[in-house]
Amino acid sequence: MGLSGRHFLASTDCSAIEWHQLLDLAAAFKAGQARVHLDGKVLGLIFSKASTRTRVSFAVAMARLGGQTLDLNPAVTQVGRGELVEDTARVLSRYVDALAIRTFAQAELETYARFSSVPVINALTDLEHPCQAIADFLTLREAFGSLEGLTLSYVGDGNNVAHSLILAGVLLGVNVRLACPTGYGPDPAVLDRAQAIAGDGATVEVLADPEAACLGAQALYTDVWASMGQEQEAGQRLRDFSGYCLDQHLLSLADPEAIVLHCLPAHRGEEISAGVMEGKASRIFDQAENRLHGQQALLASLLGSGV
Ligand code: CP
Ligand code: NVA
Repeated sequence: MGLSGRHFLASTDCSAIEWHQLLDLAAAFKAGQARVHLDGKVLGLIFSKASTRTRVSFAVAMARLGGQTLDLNPAVTQVGRGELVEDTARVLSRYVDALAIRTFAQAELETYARFSSVPVINALTDLEHPCQAIADFLTLREAFGSLEGLTLSYVGDGNNVAHSLILAGVLLGVNVRLACPTGYGPDPAVLDRAQAIAGDGATVEVLADPEAACLGAQALYTDVWASMGQEQEAGQRLRDFSGYCLDQHLLSLADPEAIVLHCLPAHRGEEISAGVMEGKASRIFDQAENRLHGQQALLASLLGSGV
């Protein structure tokens, strides 16, 4: 696979073929059919925001692959005291074999990548969450066998998670429909990019009406209304997103076999009802498990030899 030594900063850093290969490899890891040894390689974790799934799945994935992680939280390095990203990236990439970075600005991640001589992985920025998308489409593929022509409807905030679903989705031939309140739609630049790269006639539509968006869809997806860094807007957003809760009514409009996804963490009673979260259509905890298999596939592809 051609990912060896590359950065993974955005969903579009992989071609459609490479996305399919990543999903195949993730499925093989899950089935216990993939064997890759990273010979003690070290992944540095630079996390400026909280994380449960991403941090732990990277740590466990590296351990399972015979490597290890090093916690380089800015609060415990000189980054927290203002050392330049340009200098930090050049130094750290002489010690570690890859860096997984969770931060605010995509531009900061890109600066790390520009000055790093080892692969840099987007572990979530305000713009994208491409590692999440690996698990999301693996979960969807497990439910339906193939992705081509499926409709995934995302209800809520046009945020980082939505952006990665749009971009990876169109590369994988999935129709992505979004329902977002006015002013909370996805970044127009992401929509333009999606139109430009859409494969096999895959479409992206942004609607205001959640009912119209969910009609006949094979997957319903939502995420928090206030992302990390938007805590001060939470009250306003609670009002603005009224009517956008993924509940039993919206689920009843979807395909009878539809599955429900959420990247987690979730706020029951806000973006998703407790009933839908715990109901039989929910694949949310399989999806969370798939973060681990997805991370193994990504790390093996970037750092393994001959994958
Ligand atoms: N879904 C996700 O990225 O979760 P964490 O914030 O816990 O890593
Ligand atoms: N959109 C959320 C995703 C958390 C995994 C956030 O950025 O906080």
